[in-house]
Amino acid sequence: MSRAPILRRIASDVPRDEIAFALDGRACTGLEGDTVLAAILVQGERLRESDFSSAPRAGFCLMGACQDCWVQLESGERLRACTTMLVPGMQVVTGMRR
Ligand code: FES
Repeated sequence: MSRAPILRRIASDVPRDEIAFALDGRACTGLEGDTVLAAILVQGERLRESDFSSAPRAGFCLMGACQDCWVQLESGERLRACTTMLVPGMQVVTGMRR
């Protein structure tokens, strides 16, 4: 199974600040303007695993309609990764080993 990130950043002329966050306890970096989903999918090949099996999930609609991208913060708050902007210090928990 490939562990290559599912998303790859393209070159941009617009400078964006880095945003530090944690993904399942691992220190990661996203970019200003990233959604949580984008920040996670440039880290690896899946967002989370299915609630019903170990099938990989990566979001589907990317616009807040399908409910496929729920993740949790360490505080217990659940959020849709595709409609939530990444903020510094966010502690995202998916339950996966990364
Ligand atoms: S990917 Fe569909 S709601 Fe987030």
